[in-house]
This record gives sequence, structure tokens and C-alpha cells, in this order.
Amino acid sequence: MNSRDTIHLQEALVLEQEHWPGDQFVLRLQAPACAADACPGQFVHLTVDPLLPLRRPLSIQRAAPEEGWIELLYKRVGRGTALLARRQPGERLSLLGPIGRPFVVKRRRPLLLGGGVGMPPMICLADSLQQCDVEPLALLASEVPFPFDPVQSRLPAKGLDENNRAAHPLMERWGIPSRLASRVPMPGVFRGYVTEVARTWLESLERDARAEVELFACGPHPMLEAVVALAGEFDLPVQVSLEEFMACGVGGCAGCVVEVQTETGPSMQRVCVDGPVFDGYKVFTQ
Ligand SMILES: Cc1cc2nc3c(=O)[nH]c(=O)nc-3n(C[C@H](O)[C@H](O)[C@H](O)COP(=O)(O)OP(=O)(O)OC[C@H]3O[C@@H](n4cnc5c(N)ncnc54)[C@H](O)[C@@H]3O)c2cc1C
Ligand code: FES
Repeated sequence: MNSRDTIHLQEALVLEQEHWPGDQFVLRLQAPACAADACPGQFVHLTVDPLLPLRRPLSIQRAAPEEGWIELLYKRVGRGTALLARRQPGERLSLLGPIGRPFVVKRRRPLLLGGGVGMPPMICLADSLQQCDVEPLALLASEVPFPFDPVQSRLPAKGLDENNRAAHPLMERWGIPSRLASRVPMPGVFRGYVTEVARTWLESLERDARAEVELFACGPHPMLEAVVALAGEFDLPVQVSLEEFMACGVGGCAGCVVEVQTETGPSMQRVCVDGPVFDGYKVFTQ
């Protein structure tokens, strides 16, 4: 299914903009139509400033349909995100969204892996799993301070080191176990790669439980490659969300194509509307 039918164009009102260490920002926007239709893995395409006609894509971190807002997490990396960081509550931004194919959960034990500004789709996915009959585990990684205040988890994550119980506060509230990883020392946080924690957890599961796992990932390319390789080792399905460069964001310019393996051979597909979520094995060949 192509999700273009659900894209709305609206003037989103800036409600809040929080600045976190590491040049990270959490932006809350009043955008009721987008909030009503948003699914985990989808993104919005924002005009960050009238000076910059080309929109910038950002993943949806949270959507509250009843209250009509969405939340984004972004890092200030260049001109567009620097201009976005200056936006104040009360200002309006042109927003297109939600865009793209979302994640589809098919198995009982979703393993969510988010790295850096790849965390938002995982937070959105965890939020959507609250009322589902599934047993998720979320593992989040950052090489700068996390853009939230970690809490000590009370939720068990079988097989993982009891000393590393730092967790995402909202996931904890939602009853979804989460753990954090970083190569930078931080209290309660696993020192190393998120895929190492994932491997420990997968190895600790009985064979039948492991067969119920599927992986979902968003983050830098090297992390996604490592996640797909890990999924391959354990013969598990894996969906990845790609954050490629984009122009139009709605399927019209082919500015975002990636090579995807299909049954009939390699095919160039648009990240914006054919993705951003893809079968990991079809994007990262083993
Ligand atoms: C579907 C999708 C979802 C995204 N979600 C998020 C998100 O939730 N949070 C977030 O912070 N970012 C996200 N991004 C990346 C974000 O769109 C870019 O960081 C942003 O457009 C950069 O704009 P800029 O003008 O500030 O930087 P530019 O001046 O365009 O670039 C500055 C630096 O950032 C690098 N850069 C630019 N775009 C990207 C990119 N897409 N991926 C990697 N490096 C890039 C450039 O190489 C350059 O070094 C997403 C991208 C896509 C396609
Ligand atoms: S950005 Fe134009 S087709 Fe994807």
C-alpha cells in the first residue's frame, strides 16, 4: 500500500521547543490532521523557515490524536535544522504529513533498536504497542547525552545486565521495557553498541521465544547494517527505516532513491513513499 492518500498539508502551530544537550531539540506542533493519521515509521516534511523553500523531513516521535499534536526530535546539523531551532511557541510552520510506509508488527516479541536521531520512530512504535498483546523490548543508543532524563527501570529485561537499568521514561510509564547503550560512559547505560545488548538478549531466549522475535531499527547506516547482519545470524525478520536526503518528499522527484532487491532483481525505490520503512534484507545485502 502506498500511503500518499493520507498526506495532509497544514499550518502547524509551534506549541513547545525543548533544547537538550548535544544540539538536540524536541519540538511539539499542533497539527490535528497529521496527528489523527500518523503511524509509527512515518515522517513529516516541514518548511522550517520562509527563507528556505526546500522542506526538511523529520520522523514522528509521538502523535496525540485526541489533543491534536505531534512531537519531533531532531539534531541541529545544518542550515535547515538551525533555522528550525529558532522557531518559538506561537509561530506556524507549513507541514506535509504523515508521509511514507509505516512499520508493520507481525510477531509477538518486537525488538526495537533506535540510534541517535533514529530514536523517534522507535518511540512512536513503542507508544503504539501499549495496548497490543505483544512483549516488546526497546534498546536505544546515543553518543551524546540522551534527549530525555533516563530513569531506573523497574521492568525486567530477562538476560540483560541488572546494573544497566537506565531506561526511557515514557516507555517505562507505558510498561514497555527499555535499556540504553552508549560508547560514552553514562550511569546505568551499557557501554558499547546497541547491537551487543540485542545479541545478549537474543542469546538468552529459549529457541521458541526467539522464533517470535522480529527487529525494527532506525539509526545511522553502520548501525542498520549491523542490525540486519544480527537479524540474519538469528534468521529473524527485520524492518529498517531509512533517513535519506530528500527533495519533494511526496514521490515526485526521485531525489531519494535507494537500491532495493526485489524478486525480479534490483530496483530503485523512493525512500519517501516506497519507504522510509523497508525490509532490511532487501536494502542491506548480506
Ligand atoms: C524520512 C526521514 C526522517 C528523518 N527523521 C529525522 C529525525 O527524526 N530527526 C533528525 O534529527 N533528523 C531526521 N532526518 C534527517 C534530517 O532530515 C536532516 O538532518 C535535515 O534535513 C538536515 O537539514 P539541514 O538543512 O539542517 O542540514 P544540511 O545543511 O542539509 O546538512 C548538514 C549536515 O547534515 C548531513 N545531512 C543532511 N541530511 C541528512 C540525512 N538525511 N541523513 C544524514 N545526514 C544528513 C549533511 O551531510 C551535512 O553534513 C530524517 C531524514 C529523513 C529522510
Ligand atoms: S524526495 Fe522526491 S521522490 Fe522522494
